[in-house]
Amino acid sequence: MTTDVLSVPKAELHVHLEGTATPDLVARLARRNGIALPDDLFRDDGTFAWVDFLDFLRSYDKAASAIRTGADYRDVTYEYLSACAAEGAVYVELIASLDHGRHVGLADEEHLAGIAQGIDDARRDHGIVGRIISSIVRNFGVADCEDVARRTVALDHPYVVGFNMAGDEAGFPAGDYARAFAIAADAGLGCSVHAGEHAGPESIRAALKLPGVVRISHGVRAVEDPRLVEELAAREIVLEVCPTSNVVLGVFPTYEDHPLGALRAAGVPVTLGSDDPPYFGTTIGREYELAHERLGCTLDDLRAITETALDAAFSDTEGVVNRPDRRTDL
Ligand code: ADE
Ligand code: ZN
Repeated sequence: MTTDVLSVPKAELHVHLEGTATPDLVARLARRNGIALPDDLFRDDGTFAWVDFLDFLRSYDKAASAIRTGADYRDVTYEYLSACAAEGAVYVELIASLDHGRHVGLADEEHLAGIAQGIDDARRDHGIVGRIISSIVRNFGVADCEDVARRTVALDHPYVVGFNMAGDEAGFPAGDYARAFAIAADAGLGCSVHAGEHAGPESIRAALKLPGVVRISHGVRAVEDPRLVEELAAREIVLEVCPTSNVVLGVFPTYEDHPLGALRAAGVPVTLGSDDPPYFGTTIGREYELAHERLGCTLDDLRAITETALDAAFSDTEGVVNRPDRRTDL
């Protein structure tokens, strides 16, 4: 990364915690837990193997199943936040799925305690602030998602500040999950939904009807509908944009076709995220760098994007940029 971009403080609102574990870390955890990973999980070059979006989701679930214990979650969290801090990140919201823990027999309490330990250790060692967004996965089913919403609220963990929905957007329309979002929103959690990535503007409109939703994960296909773009700008709905994820997953053919610049020009608040960095060969620092080099953002624009993210964060981020190591009340 150029020193100019390195010196810009960064904040990330869209990254999936299980999706931050590198192939090396997944292999280490599998060895530690005495489990064999599926033969088809890695390509010959050692990167995660997948061919399209739904295959990516399957690969993601297989890799996540190597994360078994609270200590594992601590390590995944700590290693990711430490890497972000080295690239100049000051604040990260980690989208974490209680279901991925439950699927390997991990109790919710131990799961969250492990993530919280990673957050605390990274804060102590690197000054970076991390928080947790509890995620449902729409293709795990409506009943399951409502159960995760209830468990999230019952746990009442101080680091869990938000609620998100990921998974197969095209196959599982948002409207079916209104009850899950009502449970989360009523408990005061900030809400965001994956939409406008693998489905079009109608998917974003459906997401915006869910209780409590003030941010959209991706949302980039809003560009297909100028009236929706106007509405996003007027309502100050924040889009958590992940350019490399979009290009690698084929939502847009190249960075030059990516609508980040057009959305910004139309007044839509945008932030930058890495989504699932090792799967897409990126990092949060790289996303800032690409926005600067290929998506028309000046260094001042990058600073403004960070301000947008800190304003739209689901926890109080006052002072995070200037004195990251002095905060005591976050
Ligand atoms: N889960 C992990 N990454 C995702 C993405 N880009 N879209 C939807 N669900 C996801
Ligand atoms: Zn995502």
